[in-house]
Amino acid sequence: MGGFFLKKMKNFKGRDIIDINDFSKEELLFILKTAKRFDPAFVKSDRSNYTIAQGKIAALLFFEPSTRTEQSFRSAAQKIGMGIIGFSDPEGTSIRKGETFSDTIRIMDSYADVLTIRHPEPLSAKKAAEVAQIPVINAGDGPNQHPTQTMLDLYTMMKEAGKLDGITVALMGDLRYGRTVHALSLALSHFKIKQIFISHPSLKMPDEFLKILESRGVEYAEFDHLPEDLEADFLYQTRVQKERFKDLEEYKKIKDKFILDASFKRYLDKGVKLMHPLPRVNEIDPVLDSHPNAIYFAQAKNGLYIREALLALILGRI
Ligand code: CP
Repeated sequence: MGGFFLKKMKNFKGRDIIDINDFSKEELLFILKTAKRFDPAFVKSDRSNYTIAQGKIAALLFFEPSTRTEQSFRSAAQKIGMGIIGFSDPEGTSIRKGETFSDTIRIMDSYADVLTIRHPEPLSAKKAAEVAQIPVINAGDGPNQHPTQTMLDLYTMMKEAGKLDGITVALMGDLRYGRTVHALSLALSHFKIKQIFISHPSLKMPDEFLKILESRGVEYAEFDHLPEDLEADFLYQTRVQKERFKDLEEYKKIKDKFILDASFKRYLDKGVKLMHPLPRVNEIDPVLDSHPNAIYFAQAKNGLYIREALLALILGRI
């Protein structure tokens, strides 16, 4: 991942982080390099980071449940010296009394220096950014985008493989509704990465994404089952999202088709690294958790370093 001596990129201070497609390959690589500064795998002591953003306030507005994203943002902000305000459930706010989304954002904007928002509605983070004067980070806007997840996924691959160009990444599960895999596929397309899509035909990667990959000259393959001879550096498993199905019968027919059970160990033994954005329901058997190539918990931990880096960058403190 190169050295620690980062050439400063001028265009991060004050920037919104709404859509992974707003970031060039060079910018993504810069964020990954910056995250190394916060990762104990690369630095002996992170004491010098404790005061980076002292005096600044992060507002965390979670209109939808979260464990990893909310708690890692809370941790990241505090690790670089920030204070935190916000809510995990809008029921405890004046939204309950009928206050509008825009007014809520306007108020929180006046109390904080950066605003992180998760909301079930697509484009809600963009709408918040139109109202707010301070930078806005999209922490997931329904089925649309979750850019900091994509960045931590890229960081995990870079850290594990030591490179991005030349690797092969298989994406499996719900490729139709999964926001994570859509954004990840587009981000991977900046690099010389072969992509393999594995899903039930009704949950295949939408044609609009495949067309973009084709226009960018990305090599890809599609399978309706997990190939016996899968040649991949990473298999990225995803949850079939019940909440995105209009027809529950369709969900029931599909939900158990792509579960990874103990038999997946032979792929892990062969060197395939297993990733998952989490939370999982039943799509990865916990019996696989102790395998060194089951890296989904390490992946979630990497979110902390990416989020420390992003907060510090958009506050102009590094
Ligand atoms: N991966 C992810 O976004 O997890 P949470 O929903 O727990 O934040």
